[in-house]
Amino acid sequence: MSSARKASPTIVLLHGSGDDAHVWDALVACLPQYTAIALDLPGHGSLTSRPGPAIMSVDDYAGAVRAEMARRAIEHVCLVGHSLGSAIALRMAVDYPALVSRLLLVGGGARLRVLPALLAEAKATPDSAKWQLVEMAFAPAHQQQAREFFEQRTPTAPGMLHRDLAACDAFDMMSELGHIAQPTLVVTGEEDRLTPPKYARFLAEHLDNARLVLIPNAGHYAQIEAPEAIAEAMRDWLG
Ligand code: COA
Repeated sequence: MSSARKASPTIVLLHGSGDDAHVWDALVACLPQYTAIALDLPGHGSLTSRPGPAIMSVDDYAGAVRAEMARRAIEHVCLVGHSLGSAIALRMAVDYPALVSRLLLVGGGARLRVLPALLAEAKATPDSAKWQLVEMAFAPAHQQQAREFFEQRTPTAPGMLHRDLAACDAFDMMSELGHIAQPTLVVTGEEDRLTPPKYARFLAEHLDNARLVLIPNAGHYAQIEAPEAIAEAMRDWLG
């Protein structure tokens, strides 16, 4: 299908802590009718050689994504975020509403506190912290998939996992959700142990125009563990 005939809206996807745009490969493959642009955050994937400042908040990441969208001349997109990416997407929905016509939050939350031990380990021994995070993130039945994901990951710039988790830990939009008017699809794996369904229910209850979909047999990486289930929910929601 040529890009001229693709359905709207354009979908822009933001990955989570220590990951890169490839976390969306399986989901994007299920949605060939849409133009889907999976971005790398500074210091990740194709931007590993351009990490930016040593400390970046969710606001800073939102500014970087805004700049990249301006560079590509895209607006009114369906902004999709996973974990840290969902925090960035929520921030952008409030701060740059003209860029975001719809929101899709995967494994998200209005606050994303991080286990202090994990944060400390991300600073001291990031590879070991990343494995702990991945092991906890995938559902118990998907541990083989977790190992493959971990082994195939692209290294980030040094310090990125800690920078990302610190940004999550400081993130709190619990009292700002009323400022978000965009239609929002909240998707979380029923077995998500990092951002449990409680966080998704809170989002769905406090956003004005939200639909909640809990995905059975999936954990925090629902877009990898159950891509077709999310694609089906998206197709239904996007009409
Ligand atoms: N949506 C709805 N409720 C939330 C929430 C969210 N996004 N974030 C926290 N809460 C709730 C908690 O469930 C808790 O409710 P309770 O008092 O009824 O138990 C309350 O708000 C306070 O939680 P929190 O701010 O997280 O502080 P805490 O001291 O209770 O717990 C952690 C801190 C780190 C132990 C906890 O947040 C946790 O286990 N996090 C998940 C693990 C992790 O590291 N995830 C990585 C995310 S990127």
